[in-house]
Amino acid sequence: MLEKTDSEIELLRASALLVSQTLAEVGSMVRPGVTTCELDARAEEFIRDHGAQPGFKGYHGYPNTLCTSVNSQIVHGIPSRDTVLKDGDIISVDCGVLLNRYYGDSAYTFEVGNVSESTRCLLRVTRECLFKGIEMATQKNRIGDLSWTIQQHAESYGYSVVRELVGHGIGIHMHEKPDVPNYGRRGSGMQLRKNMVICIEPMINKGRKEVIEEKDGWTIRTKDNEPSAHFELTVAVGEQTADVLSTFSFIEDRLKLHN
Ligand code: MF3
Ligand code: CO
Repeated sequence: MLEKTDSEIELLRASALLVSQTLAEVGSMVRPGVTTCELDARAEEFIRDHGAQPGFKGYHGYPNTLCTSVNSQIVHGIPSRDTVLKDGDIISVDCGVLLNRYYGDSAYTFEVGNVSESTRCLLRVTRECLFKGIEMATQKNRIGDLSWTIQQHAESYGYSVVRELVGHGIGIHMHEKPDVPNYGRRGSGMQLRKNMVICIEPMINKGRKEVIEEKDGWTIRTKDNEPSAHFELTVAVGEQTADVLSTFSFIEDRLKLHN
C-alpha cells in the first residue's frame, strides 16, 4: 500500500513544514563568506529546537544535517569548514527531518550574491520543472507523464536531466516506492493514486547529463563541470490537483525582504 491515510498525511505535512522553515532559516544565511559548515550547524540546531531530528545524519553513514552542493556539484555535497561561498556561486541545500516518526525532505538552490544571467535561467527553469511535475501529480496520470513533463521542459532550454538520481515516495522511511525519475516516456510507469506521497526533485544540468562521484564517496557533480540546479518538494497525489505539503514560501518571502 503506497497510499497514506489522511492522518499520516497530516504528520507528513508537519515534517514537510519544518523542513521548509529550516531551509528558509539556512537561506537567510547564504551570502559570500559563509561556510557550508555554518549553514549545517544552524540547520541542525533549528531542527532540534523544533523537537525533531536531522533526517540525513547517519543515513547510510551520511555525516551531516544538510547536503550542500555548490556550482557543478549536483547533490550530496558534504558541508565543510573549507567551503566558503563566494559571489556568483549557486548552492543547492537539501534537508531532511524526522518528526513524530515521519520524514520531511526538500531542497532549494540559492544564489550567492550576483549570479550570471545564464545560471539564473537554469535555476528558474529547474524550479519550473518541479512545478510542472507537481501539476501532473494527480490520479489521472502515470509516473512517466510526470517524468516526461519535467524532461521536456528542461530539454526545451538545451539543459539536460540527471539520470542517476530520482525522486521518491516518503513516509516512515525517507526513501519509499515509487521512484520518481525526471526523465521518461508519457503513459509509462505506475499509475498514480490518491494519497501517495512523493518527493519530486528535478536535478538539471546546464551542460551535459553525465555525472561523476567525487573522491569523498558522496558528492555527485557534473562531468563537464557546468553548473547544476536542484529543487525538491513533497506532495500528496490528489484527484484533480496535488496537495503540496512542503513550500518555498518561507524561503522566498525572506529572500524578498533581503533583496
Ligand atoms: N536528499 C536526498 C533525497 O532527496 C537524500 C539525501 S541522502 C543523504 O533523496 F544520505 F545524503 F543524506
Ligand atoms: Co529527496
